[in-house]
Amino acid sequence: MSSTRERIIALLAANNESYVSGQAISDQLKISRTAVWKQMKVLKQDGYLIEAIPNKGYRIISTPNKLSENTLQWGLQTKWLGKSINFYDEIDSTQTKANHLAQQGCKHGTVVIANSQQAGRGRMNRAWHSNNEDGIWMSMVLRPTILPAHAPQFTLLTGTVLVDILSEKTGIPIKIKWPNDLFVGDKKVAGILTEMQAEQDQIHYLVIGIGINVNQYTKQLPAEIRTKATSLREATGNWFSKIELIQSILYAFETAYERHQEIGFSEIKRNWEKRGYKMNQNVTYHSGNIQSEGIIKGINENGALLIESNDNEIITLYSAEIDW
Ligand code: BTN
Repeated sequence: MSSTRERIIALLAANNESYVSGQAISDQLKISRTAVWKQMKVLKQDGYLIEAIPNKGYRIISTPNKLSENTLQWGLQTKWLGKSINFYDEIDSTQTKANHLAQQGCKHGTVVIANSQQAGRGRMNRAWHSNNEDGIWMSMVLRPTILPAHAPQFTLLTGTVLVDILSEKTGIPIKIKWPNDLFVGDKKVAGILTEMQAEQDQIHYLVIGIGINVNQYTKQLPAEIRTKATSLREATGNWFSKIELIQSILYAFETAYERHQEIGFSEIKRNWEKRGYKMNQNVTYHSGNIQSEGIIKGINENGALLIESNDNEIITLYSAEIDW
């Protein structure tokens, strides 16, 4: 059961732009008018900007910048994604937590977000530096009805959603380095980690983890990645609201996901190919010990990269065989 405070915020958030009278709050939450007034006072102290108009009631004008379940929910325009948000100030990894929740049967669209991670994970068992509050560290649990072989489509979908939102908010060009790194120029700004539990022909769940360097300065990053990574702030000189970014990403992801369910992969493929790093450029790749050169042409429906070799053959690459 949520607290009185959370229920008041939820009630005001549900009515978004319109006023909710003190009497209506008191009736719905079964608390006295004095208790309502006291709760409003505490919310204001916490940084909520609340307008109170006699004979009309209360409405939230703005929420504090601090991440919490409430501040993330307020103004979130999704139908199902993030309707359940599990927020942690500090956690080992949102990805690990989301996997546990999924195993316990949590709903499609459950989101786990943390201010900081002590054991953030990247692809290939690499550590993901996220022991700070300056980035977005979140994982989404999804239960799509597609074949396990098509699961990488959701990594590609996530990449296109992130490119669109981050380019729109920052005004700088961002590209997706196959399969799942977001690049500003030649530096990584975000990564996607997709994990799943599936049988041969059925996905039980997918967990898509998103890590974005938002307000860090490069000097705050560990020395070993400082030359290879960047943040939105470093790239633009501007500070960004994590709440606004998360809400925009969740909304855009939900829209893209529904479109995928409706019309399939073709549109994502086209979108991805417009945003792919080094598309139509020459790269070196290796299969086993053999090194060759070819031109990146696009992706296929299993998420594999298509390269045109020097003798005009289309080669399909499945793992990290490119020398970027
Ligand atoms: C990569 O580029 O290797 C993927 C990085 C994914 C990092 C995110 S941060 C939120 C979620 N929790 C984790 O432990 N990892 C993912």
